[in-house]
Amino acid sequence: MAHIHDLAPQINQYYLGGRKQDNQLKFPDTDVFKGFNAPSRIEGEIINLEVDGTIPADIDGTFYRIQPDHRYPPMFEDDIQFNGDGAVTAIRIQKGHADFKQRFVKTDRYEAETAERRALFGRYRNLYTDDELVKGVIRTASNTNVVFWRGMLLAMKEDGPPFAMDPVTLETIGRYDFEGQVQSPTFTAHPKIDPVTGEMVCFGYEAGENGNDASNDIVVYTINADGVKTDECWYKSPFCGMIHDCGISANYLVMPLTPLKCSLDRLKKGGNHWAWDPNEDQWYGVVPRRGGRPNDIKWFRSANAFHGHTAGCYETEDGRIIYDLTVADGNVFFFFPPDDMPPGSVLKRNKLKSETCRWILDPKAPSGTYVTPAQSWNTSGEFSRIDDRLVTKRYDHFWQCKIDPTREYDFASCGPPAGGLFNCLGHYTWSGQTEDLIALVNQLDVLRNDIMIFDALHLSAGPVATIRLPFKLKLGLHGNFVDHADIAEWEALRRRAGGIGPVKPAERPLPWQLAMNGTASNGQSGRNCVNGLSH
Ligand SMILES: [Fe+2]
Repeated sequence: MAHIHDLAPQINQYYLGGRKQDNQLKFPDTDVFKGFNAPSRIEGEIINLEVDGTIPADIDGTFYRIQPDHRYPPMFEDDIQFNGDGAVTAIRIQKGHADFKQRFVKTDRYEAETAERRALFGRYRNLYTDDELVKGVIRTASNTNVVFWRGMLLAMKEDGPPFAMDPVTLETIGRYDFEGQVQSPTFTAHPKIDPVTGEMVCFGYEAGENGNDASNDIVVYTINADGVKTDECWYKSPFCGMIHDCGISANYLVMPLTPLKCSLDRLKKGGNHWAWDPNEDQWYGVVPRRGGRPNDIKWFRSANAFHGHTAGCYETEDGRIIYDLTVADGNVFFFFPPDDMPPGSVLKRNKLKSETCRWILDPKAPSGTYVTPAQSWNTSGEFSRIDDRLVTKRYDHFWQCKIDPTREYDFASCGPPAGGLFNCLGHYTWSGQTEDLIALVNQLDVLRNDIMIFDALHLSAGPVATIRLPFKLKLGLHGNFVDHADIAEWEALRRRAGGIGPVKPAERPLPWQLAMNGTASNGQSGRNCVNGLSH
């Protein structure tokens, strides 16, 4: 007797030569789309999640988290996780309870693909592989970080502008250009907010033309607490490489330039945006936060390595800059191999070592100065966090996802390590009082997630509460906790101002879109097309 699945229509080849052949909603049979990595595509909410332990009664806020989650099978079978649509998760915690909400970021990409019910954007950050239908449409999937700013959530990915969302409903407000003040085609997913001044210090790299042209342009902005742009300066990098995160001290911005290089020729041939260059140094660009001029950028160099995320940054009494971040000893993005190496021939992330390094940079030193770490932790970890109130200040404590090789990993139940095999949380001090720590745990063996709340100074005591989700989320990169008092303050401002309040979505297309077609229009709903495509 035939099994019921044998009676279903058999389509043997959704991808031919690695390219999608039909509109069948069937994802590739690759690790990127299987097991814990299988697309989730969930939008919805759950009131009162199951909780083990006791959520501290004084926690009143929301833990936001963002993840790439493909809604449609990609155009290319070997697509990567970073190319998935941004989906924001909100865990609202109050009075000892937790609620769940999740929505996609309704980017221009989202709207265009929804209209056609299929993927229209090709490879990660390569517009030359897109469907003609979306020529001129902003490509960003807004899937990397989600930051609270002036009453909005900004969903961010460094290949395009941010998109604004309502922090309570998670409805998308639209593309955000800081009320017309920020026109760069790219914008970092890691802006830094100075807790002393309330300023947002932010930048875009590969910021020339349409942001997908391998340019060496870097733009740095400062937006003050009232939302007014007070600084904008354009700089040049020595090559078009990735600048993912940054650090700010009271007077400087440090930008780590990683030797992943873009090539316009490779893009035009339909290849990867990035290629690892094992022979290139790691670089650090230092610019003044105020009054910077194009020639003010100073570059510091060190031996080839791959930058992770910033822990802290501050200045010493003698004016030097302390900059702490994780640095891996090889290409973390194994899916972007050197030009002369085929994919799969390089070490995967879990084989690499990722130490936390302290750099001391003297802004008075000449550009090109070679530096080595002043201190490094002989452990492997990533995604360091500090108390955000200590950004720009001397700090002691940091916490990070850590890889502890002495702890067993259950390959049989969990499958291949996903996202770097982080198997514990690490608490470090450089030389303390902090708050509780919230972390999201991927239960790889049972395809489910927990949100755990710890006493940040006593991680080893275990979580004080574990909030249980009844399903898995997609692997994500970043999240942030927002105190509800901050959200409530802006809700009150909105009520007084009416409508969506003092912040507005972009009203005009970006300059590169206008250059393609001066008749473009950009509606309030996030529409932003220049080719007449209605979405
Ligand atoms: Fe990041």
